[in-house]
Amino acid sequence: MLDAVAVMRRAHVAKLALCDRLEAIADSLPAGLNRRECLLAARALGPGMAETHRFEEIEIYPHFAASLGQSAEARKTVARLKHEHFEDEGYAAELRDALRFAARWRRAQNPETLGFMLRGFFGAVRRHVAFERDHVLAQLSPPG
Ligand SMILES: [Fe+2]
Repeated sequence: MLDAVAVMRRAHVAKLALCDRLEAIADSLPAGLNRRECLLAARALGPGMAETHRFEEIEIYPHFAASLGQSAEARKTVARLKHEHFEDEGYAAELRDALRFAARWRRAQNPETLGFMLRGFFGAVRRHVAFERDHVLAQLSPPG
């Protein structure tokens, strides 16, 4: 269990680094777009992200629900977090396409839309990660 918690903590670090990278891209719009940054971010939005989601859903969430006695509240929380994974994967696929376009053509197809997509995405991911850290991981592996 503690191994799985450690894996999830590392995945969180990677996700937050991705959020910082996406924020830097959003801040660079429209004129300062860096192709390499767009490509690196697009790669980080790939299948690895879905894999970490499946890992959390299979290796972490069931323990979280069990530790709270399978309460209705815990089950509702798990359902919400899974839904957020599902949504984030959908947005990640769209962002990936937009970032690849930007890398190829050295400009965003629509800078305003890309900025909006980026900010919506990293905002949601940061909230999701913070919730998992403060509620799910804190429950499974209390600090100290
Ligand atoms: Fe998650």
